[in-house]
Amino acid sequence: MSMSDARKAEWSLKYPTIEDLRLRGRRRTPRFAFDYVDGAVGASELNMVRNAEALDAIEIVPRYGSVNFTANTEVELFGETYAMPVAIAPMGIPSLVLPNGEEVMARAAQAHRFPLALGCVAGATVERIAELAPDNLWFQLYRQPANELAVDMDLVRRAGDVGVKVLIVTLDVPSRAKRPRERRDRLVIPYSHSVRTVTEALKHPTWLMAYLRHGMRPFANYRPYAGENASDKDVIEFVRRETVGAFTWDEVAQFRDAWPGPLVVKGLLHPGDAERAVSIGADGIEVSNHGGRQLEAAPPAIDCLPAVVDAIGGRAKILFDSGIRSGIDVVRAMALGADFTLAGRAFMYGLCALGEEGPEYVASFFQDEIAVAMRQIGVQTYAELRDLDIRHPGAFNFG
Ligand SMILES: Cc1cc2nc3c(=O)[nH]c(=O)nc-3n(C[C@H](O)[C@H](O)[C@H](O)COP(=O)(O)O)c2cc1C
Repeated sequence: MSMSDARKAEWSLKYPTIEDLRLRGRRRTPRFAFDYVDGAVGASELNMVRNAEALDAIEIVPRYGSVNFTANTEVELFGETYAMPVAIAPMGIPSLVLPNGEEVMARAAQAHRFPLALGCVAGATVERIAELAPDNLWFQLYRQPANELAVDMDLVRRAGDVGVKVLIVTLDVPSRAKRPRERRDRLVIPYSHSVRTVTEALKHPTWLMAYLRHGMRPFANYRPYAGENASDKDVIEFVRRETVGAFTWDEVAQFRDAWPGPLVVKGLLHPGDAERAVSIGADGIEVSNHGGRQLEAAPPAIDCLPAVVDAIGGRAKILFDSGIRSGIDVVRAMALGADFTLAGRAFMYGLCALGEEGPEYVASFFQDEIAVAMRQIGVQTYAELRDLDIRHPGAFNFG
């Protein structure tokens, strides 16, 4: 069911920023689940911090005096029209935050006409999520190299069978990142309940009730491959064992051949890598540093965006994520040449703070803020953003 306007209005007073949702979410969510979302790589989680700082530092000079108008937040990508240029980024396990989290996100995407990029390691199958978001579903893959990528290729087939619009292959996880909070919380595989996780669950009755009601289906997409009558533990162990490294360019080319629809390569920062992806036939490049979760020393993704946009020169669509927390962040990325953006944690904080209604509230939050930002800047369309005067102090020089 879609959220009422009165509810939206009430929350826009209570939670006018994503940070408000984050703070409420922290209180309402078991610590292991909140830290999984909120944490990043490295002792100081600096890569994540810098993503936000780099976006904040981008200035846009507004132009005034044109006629009053309604900004058009709609956008077309790969032949589909969406209500706004923001997707829910692929994220491993929304159901850790709210059991049935993936389904809740799917309903929000369908109701609000924006894409959900389902992660292959999610807690719901692509078939189930396609029932709920038939018009707005994208799907992301990690690498399972056994038998010439047989599992990945079967996932691609399944995604095609249920009408997934866009396939995303993630390249920026060649090794498991060391995220200190996940270790302190014992959120590691092989996983077993500790006294601390059980206590945390008991301390959060809303979460516990949702867990008792919906259960949890770890890595649901992989159940058919983990052997007949595989237990949850078997499935978890299967995914841990089989998920190895990141795709090579040769492997990306195999997905290009296997997938007839739009193919996006995710996690690139270097224009040379973007060039390589386009030469293989990628339709889109997702400039991203995984939200600061993989390499602490990586530059903020937004600082790499202009060089990638220049290098590709319109030969593929440019998507951007990492650090988006507001409508003006979306507008900043679009002004620097992105064709679309994705937000990860913002939607997860919504789930943490507001449960089933969280993702839809975050969607309307973004859409309202984008419209206000465009009116304030003086543009009616995203294309006009490119003509503005912009100061981007951190822009990475690849010379
Ligand atoms: C909890 C969590 C889980 C994630 N899991 C995946 C994943 O399974 N596959 C993937 O390609 N990216 C994954 N990401 C990265 C996101 O797709 C995206 O790049 C990142 O969240 C963007 O940064 P933001 O959180 O600042 O918006 C994950 C991010 C978070 C926060």
